[in-house]
Amino acid sequence: MATPVIETEGLTKVFGRLRNPKLAVDHIHFRVEPGQVYGFLGPNGAGKSTTIRMILNLMYASEGKALVFGEDPRKKPEVLYRVGSLVEGATFYPYLRGWDNLKVVGNSRGGFDEARAKQLLQFVGLVGSERVRVKAYSTGMKQRLGIAAALLNNPDLVILDEPTNGMDPSGIREMRQFIRDLAYKYGKTVFLTSHLLSEVQQTSDRVAIVNKGKIVVEGRIDELLNQEEELEVEVGSLEKAKTALQERWLVIPSTVPNEPNRFRIKATRNDTPSIVRRLVDQNVDVFGIAPVRQSLEDYFLEVTGDAPLPLDPSSLPVGAKPHA
Ligand SMILES: Nc1ncnc2c1ncn2[C@@H]1O[C@H](COP(=O)(O)OP(=O)(O)OP(=O)(O)O)[C@@H](O)[C@H]1O
Ligand SMILES: [Mg+2]
Repeated sequence: MATPVIETEGLTKVFGRLRNPKLAVDHIHFRVEPGQVYGFLGPNGAGKSTTIRMILNLMYASEGKALVFGEDPRKKPEVLYRVGSLVEGATFYPYLRGWDNLKVVGNSRGGFDEARAKQLLQFVGLVGSERVRVKAYSTGMKQRLGIAAALLNNPDLVILDEPTNGMDPSGIREMRQFIRDLAYKYGKTVFLTSHLLSEVQQTSDRVAIVNKGKIVVEGRIDELLNQEEELEVEVGSLEKAKTALQERWLVIPSTVPNEPNRFRIKATRNDTPSIVRRLVDQNVDVFGIAPVRQSLEDYFLEVTGDAPLPLDPSSLPVGAKPHA
């Protein structure tokens, strides 16, 4: 198996050790494989930026470690030459033009490649604004410049902390496309954080949902979405439908009055064709069938909100691993 691009082992950060210690990142394990877009999803204060800072060696871990391309950046900092990052809003020299800021960044990393910088300005949609001083940039423009800066040294791993922060809807859409392009066109590995579920759902292959410093769910997006679910079915005759289906699926009649021919069935969306086929074979009229699945959004709210955490492995969606 290829070396993971990022691998953490028991990565932990405690702030303010002496007085009032705060466990910001709590023994997290995850691995990001080459070419993946990996989403780190969690509410404010979950520990996303702290995790990134430890990966980038901007901050020491209190316990555990994070390996980048199989190396510990604390022992081999040059491994970070292969990483481009944008952490919690880029900081630039406000009185320098966008272009000159890129030059500063490039030169600090061993040389400024003008042609590449021009391409990147095009890529992030800043052509025409590169001669403007950064102090006159909007939040979204600074974010775009930050991304161009992160990509200047043509990194193999791109780490983006809340990449769509401060962007307008069209900018957000571009950014999502852009993140996918980084991975699928240019073969980069991308690690991004977000508190927006839709963002992660639309860009990432794999997701970790973090809350209060812990990973509560981790898995492939498609597996998380294709979880065990219920389908709601409306038929001409409940009795006939039960006979047709119950040897294979659990049929739960609706408890709502005036819905005598509606029921729910424990099945996944992929079972829909065979359910319909069976009903039709048994001459049961089908008026409708629709998934009532728990979306990733419900899941996110459940694991990050007041609802009890799904620590019982049997309550996790297929493909998701519980994290201690
Ligand atoms: N330097 C610090 N000193 C003390 N506490 C900190 C420090 N940095 C972060 N924290 C605390 O650690 C926790 C995690 O913060 P972090 O910035 O990693 O969260 P986040 O998931 O990135 O949140 P957001 O979505 O708001 O960016 C928070 O409770 C925060 O207050
Ligand atoms: Mg943050």
